[in-house]
Amino acid sequence: MDAIAILDFGSQYAQLIARRVREAHVYCELFPYDASSVQVLGLRPKGFILSGGPASVYEPGAPQIPAYVLGSGLPILGICYGMQAMAHALGGRVAPSADREFGKAEVEVTEQNPLLPDGRLPVWMSHGDRIDALPPGFAPLARSDNSPYAAMANPAEKRYGLQFHPEVRHTPDGPAILRGFLVDVCEAKADWTAESIIDQAVEQVRRQVGKEQVLAAVSGGVDSSVAAALVQRAVGDQLTCVFVDTGLLRHGEPESVVTAFGEDLGARLVAVNASEAFLEALEGLTDPEAKRRVIGEKFVRTFEEQAAGLGNPPYLVQGTIYPDVVESSAPDRQKASRIKTHHNVGGLPREMGFSLVEPLRYLFKDEVRAVGLALGLPESLIWRQPFPGPGLAVRCLGEVSLERLIRLRAADRIASEELALAGSLRDDTAQAFVVLLPVRSVGVMGDQRTYAETVVLRAVTTDDFMTADWARLPSELLARISSRIVNEVAGVNRVVYDITSKPPATIEWE
Ligand code: XMP
Repeated sequence: MDAIAILDFGSQYAQLIARRVREAHVYCELFPYDASSVQVLGLRPKGFILSGGPASVYEPGAPQIPAYVLGSGLPILGICYGMQAMAHALGGRVAPSADREFGKAEVEVTEQNPLLPDGRLPVWMSHGDRIDALPPGFAPLARSDNSPYAAMANPAEKRYGLQFHPEVRHTPDGPAILRGFLVDVCEAKADWTAESIIDQAVEQVRRQVGKEQVLAAVSGGVDSSVAAALVQRAVGDQLTCVFVDTGLLRHGEPESVVTAFGEDLGARLVAVNASEAFLEALEGLTDPEAKRRVIGEKFVRTFEEQAAGLGNPPYLVQGTIYPDVVESSAPDRQKASRIKTHHNVGGLPREMGFSLVEPLRYLFKDEVRAVGLALGLPESLIWRQPFPGPGLAVRCLGEVSLERLIRLRAADRIASEELALAGSLRDDTAQAFVVLLPVRSVGVMGDQRTYAETVVLRAVTTDDFMTADWARLPSELLARISSRIVNEVAGVNRVVYDITSKPPATIEWE
């Protein structure tokens, strides 16, 4: 499989470059610019892409293009800082630009080349420095109002530089520009497709686990489901999927997990109904972190019991995906203060002694979805919105009782149904759900006074779940959801819509 190595010089768009390359069906990996040559060349790349970055090449200590890259003789595409660093390293001159260029701009292509189409192209610029003198052997390919060299090339050495960002959507020709570099310049085969990903993962899983037994915890989440389905494709009967029903899932979810794995995929599935035990453990708890802790512990214990019953298989499937891998190595992640303990709830700790099988470790989310569909998982599962590990417990504010869970589940079901009918679940919200508050208010129904609980409808738009805005849902849809919930769910007499963004609020209420 042909591959491209992308070196990250600190760009906020580095992952986006990698996604665009994969969308062109060429495999690539992302490395910090100072990764070891052994690691990067181990990929056997057909070419390099150098990302943008916040530094200026003439500052002391500015990141440099590693010597092994320039010495490799392989094609290089420098984007923004990557272009400037290449110009600087090869004897050109980079200087601060009198007019910084940020946002939409237009470049005029002045020289025919394999990357840029003829004419004037709308592009996305974001730079303070510019190239004033090209290095020897380079020719200009395009100019903009502020950059005499908005693109440059040394075609003989297959080295290209772009002052603008082909990876962002605001550069409409970006995909074609990248394809020109990948296919025409690097001569990489565009054979990275769902089918080839599956073939390769299957082979690798088989090699890793041999004849041993493998366990997977499935809960209906996209990543863990696709990971388990891939392993099932690879080693069939050696895999046992364990589904722990915590009693904290939404309406219909336990059944759909059993159908998807047990019936559709024909995987060996052990379904454990542990809802009573989870409810008991949660009794009396109202603090969000205490709920998370208890659920996390209970989950691990339940899973351990199942594993022991299955003779403690040595391998465990995990749905780790590429952004988790890339981000967990970024230094600023570790410093972020802990608002909620997220990713260790419903997950299983490394100390459990399993060797991990991580077939999605190099895949982006859209690739995970494509693989899942190709493996025959249902669309409803593949497009499922994120759902927190501790489940409805962190949406049932105050004490978690069976009665209140039934109330919450019924209200949530109505909201999901109406959002889906209106097409809003997929198109207008990244996450939408109902929260039950431990707050009672007075109402009137028929001629009767009511004194019942309140639910909140929370619906947000977001790309990355780090920040979010509340969804501007149509008022008729909100009205339908509200009236159905109050009419159909006993114990609820008021529905409110959460109009807070994140920050300052978070998406979940606990
Ligand atoms: P917040 O509420 O922090 O949520 O804005 C961001 C995203 O993370 C999900 N979330 C969780 N996921 N365990 C999880 O696996 C958790 O404890 C947890 N808490 C929040 C949340 O649903 C949203 O998608």
